[in-house]
Amino acid sequence: MKTYLVTGGAGFIGSNFVLYMLKKYSDITIVNVDLLTYAGNLENLKSVENNENYHFVQADIGDSKAIQAIFDQYDIDYVVNFAAESHVDRSIKDPEIFVKTNVLGTLNLLNIAKEKWLVGDDLYKEGKKYLQVSTDEVYGSLGETGYFTEKTPLDPSSPYSASKTSADLLVKAYWETYKMPINITRCSNNYGPYHFPEKLIPLIIHNCLHHKEIPVYGNGENVRDWLFVEDHCKAIDMVVNQGRLGEVYNVGGHNERTNIEIVKLIIAYLQEHADSGITEDLITFVKDRKGHDLRYAIDPTKITNELGWEPETKFEDGIVRTINWYLENQDWMNHVTSGAYKAYYSKMYGQK
Ligand code: NAD
Ligand code: DAU
Repeated sequence: MKTYLVTGGAGFIGSNFVLYMLKKYSDITIVNVDLLTYAGNLENLKSVENNENYHFVQADIGDSKAIQAIFDQYDIDYVVNFAAESHVDRSIKDPEIFVKTNVLGTLNLLNIAKEKWLVGDDLYKEGKKYLQVSTDEVYGSLGETGYFTEKTPLDPSSPYSASKTSADLLVKAYWETYKMPINITRCSNNYGPYHFPEKLIPLIIHNCLHHKEIPVYGNGENVRDWLFVEDHCKAIDMVVNQGRLGEVYNVGGHNERTNIEIVKLIIAYLQEHADSGITEDLITFVKDRKGHDLRYAIDPTKITNELGWEPETKFEDGIVRTINWYLENQDWMNHVTSGAYKAYYSKMYGQK
């Protein structure tokens, strides 16, 4: 019976991971530690809140007393660190919190896991592992061609990606210096249920349903490599359980799309299935994001060859599942966009 400490398990990917793991395994325990920032939402976890193998603790990953108490209460086997400030645009406006949570928070988790797991010089209790959930943004931007491999030099552009890179370097340092059992996964853009509507895909859906302008940065030709969130969860499960210690694994499904292509696809679907009044007239090209990375594209050869991971959900199916999830869960969207979201939106985009 393995015990997972999942941090940030009330956010978009974290809550999908908790749900995925508890559905797949009846013989694991998950301790979900989340500060419940604007991005964390316990509504996502309603279906498991009474599961006896699931425990929730509201805490900051940077709070050493709180994290130590969790390690004292539970015999933690795996740490899977999702907790982060995750939005590039917010990091451009206010970088400090990104360093506090993403860098210092990670360092705190590493220190406590090391202290609790170490039994002798460079010797750790059997079967322990720390997995850092990282991002392809640590590699910076690609031009028109090429892919990120695990050997691509780290070259982050935004304060967000710089903080994630710093965290990766600390995790690697704990492997090199202290031989701490670790893995790092670097995934491309996720999409799916519970995605907070500050991010492109849920923001498009939200604005369409409210007949609001859809802000497209620059010319809309930036490329992202989209992966259905469940496929990311599957990759993390495989890396925790089978990944070679000390290794980095890139995760992505070769699904590159320009932003404008995504915008038009969602408009077309909603126009046909929800409201014929949703048209491309909503598209509004706005000032570009500062330091906007042109293109991300992952080469997943290593995780495919070593662990047998492959994405299961085709984009054409995943995007329909996602849009339908938002159509069926408009209460969820209404809850997360009430209050603070309105202030955030007008700060970022004006009153439109
Ligand atoms: P998210 O913003 O939706 O969720 C982050 C979660 O972390 C929230 O529940 C929040 O409450 C929690 N949190 C924030 N600060 C905390 C703190 N100090 N202590 C404890 N909890 C805290 O983010 P997401 O999109 O689900 O991303 C999860 C992880 O995956 C992040 O580390 C991100 O860098 C990484 N990632 C995301 C993507 C993507 O496309 N979304 C792709 C690759 C990697
Ligand atoms: O690649 C992985 C990363 O993907 C993760 O590490 C980040 O946590 C996650 O937020 C995501 O970062 P992006 O910056 O790629 O995602 P976002 O949804 O913010 O933007 C996607 C693209 O859409 C990007 O080129 C910017 C553009 N965009 C975004 C918003 C919010 C717009 O054109 N208009 C918008 O309003």
